Amino acid sequence: MLNLKTNNILIKEQFVWWKHGVIYHIYPRSFYDSNNDGIGDIQGIIQKLDYLKDLGIDAIWLSPIYESPQYDFGYDISDYYSIDPIFGVMDDFETLLQECHNRNIRLIMDLIMNHTSNQHAWFKESSSSLTNPKRDWYIWKDGKNGNAPNNWISATGSKAWEYDEQTNQYYLHSFFKEQPDLNWRNEEMREAFFNEIRFWLDLGVDGFRLDVINFIVKDKKFRDNPVFMGVPFLQKHLYNRNRPKSYKIVKKLRKLIDEYDNRMILGEIYVMPPGDAETAASYLSSGEKGLNLAFDFSLIFKRWSASAYYKCIKRWYKHIPTDGWPCNVLSNHDLNRSYNRSLFGSNNNEKAKICAVLLLTIKGTPFIYYGEEIGMQNGEIEKKDIQDPLGKKFWPIYKGRDKARTPMQWNANINAGFSNNKPWLPLNSDYKFKNVELQDIQIDSVLKVYKNIIKLRKKFSALVYGDWKPIEKGEKGILAYYRIFDKENLLIILNFRNSYNSINIDVDCFHKVLFSTHREIDKVYLESTLSIFPYEALILAPYKPI
Ligand code: GLC
Repeated sequence: MLNLKTNNILIKEQFVWWKHGVIYHIYPRSFYDSNNDGIGDIQGIIQKLDYLKDLGIDAIWLSPIYESPQYDFGYDISDYYSIDPIFGVMDDFETLLQECHNRNIRLIMDLIMNHTSNQHAWFKESSSSLTNPKRDWYIWKDGKNGNAPNNWISATGSKAWEYDEQTNQYYLHSFFKEQPDLNWRNEEMREAFFNEIRFWLDLGVDGFRLDVINFIVKDKKFRDNPVFMGVPFLQKHLYNRNRPKSYKIVKKLRKLIDEYDNRMILGEIYVMPPGDAETAASYLSSGEKGLNLAFDFSLIFKRWSASAYYKCIKRWYKHIPTDGWPCNVLSNHDLNRSYNRSLFGSNNNEKAKICAVLLLTIKGTPFIYYGEEIGMQNGEIEKKDIQDPLGKKFWPIYKGRDKARTPMQWNANINAGFSNNKPWLPLNSDYKFKNVELQDIQIDSVLKVYKNIIKLRKKFSALVYGDWKPIEKGEKGILAYYRIFDKENLLIILNFRNSYNSINIDVDCFHKVLFSTHREIDKVYLESTLSIFPYEALILAPYKPI
């Protein structure tokens, strides 16, 4: 029997879906195309909900589906109140929400608060004259000696200011010039934006992933950022990111979200260079102050090494406030897919399985990026097929983000079962032997690992709420940790090396295999020193013979 205290926590926390749930990130253009125009859509997602349910997914996060000129593929919104026709209509969205909820799957929308599209009605008004009532809804400034107002550089590597001839002023854009930044110091704009958020909450969406939420407020005095070695684009974004007032806006937003039951906000904390756990965690709080979850992308940039992973995870947990909760992510639509990150080297199938077990058994809400569950790899995109404006701009030094956005590989049929028409991005050439249909019948596939571990997460509260107690910190190429909750005590062992390894389990009891990439389930071990297979992922539970 659980003691009363633990029992109460358990009962209370079981309702906090964003803590125990497994969240699946869908890039809608690439998931499933129901109308055969080559682009994924909302009806397509609806048709695949049973697949997601079977995988064990508790919530989906959709990259933006609002009306947009699609310059940055939806991250440039022209109307927050409507659905882009390429994805469907509002009725489709409401059906999706209902169908998700019927299956007990939550739905998280992407929300872009930092900027709109330059085609948004607000911006059109704002740019029409110096005296337009919405002028101050965006960030307009006079130039300085015939130049931009200050030295800020956008995240795309160019000047962050665009000159507007009509009104002889510059507007700020932290990304492309097609994405003008909103002015979060303007209360009228804030109220109008919060009304948009209310609209979606009233419809019943369960939460929001907040795009670059740490960018939203800029220095009031627009001071120049410090630059390194005199190189203008090597700057410390002191005055245009992570400003104290950003936290105040987040707090207001949290208040709004908390007016509704069981909703959540998750922040993309964009930091360059990546790997700043402390900044990501600074936005977290389970209280009224901050975000429910925040992304720290550090793990994505780690080389393949048990000790590097250990240090990274430990650092993340160290910064999580006592009332905060971690989440974990290995891939997304902006970065290299985890499967063939160059840092991985070879043996990627084995490594993908270790990553799956790691992602689903360390402490924190796991995020799976579509296709990660079958070990999808980066696409090889030729110049003529490039869609991402970043790829167009920087080719061939940087080929852009399309590689992580190629169509989902459902089966070995034409276009991987994604569409009957030519997909908007080329398919990965490996789809004939790497796809959902095939991996569903292979007992040792990456997909099976995801399914099995998600099942274990649902069975053992320790994998969700348990403390994380590392016992091997990577020195020998093994990362091993206990997850402990009440009487549950699971041991997870991950061998990062392509060679036999061993581990000492200093406890005087038998162990039973709950999961292994290499050995029989339910097998019982008496030894306190266990030999571990090359690239094995193993989960053990203490076992008492009857
Ligand atoms: C975020 C998104 C990215 C987008 C950018 C601008 O980083 O993940 O895809 O281009 O914000 O909205």
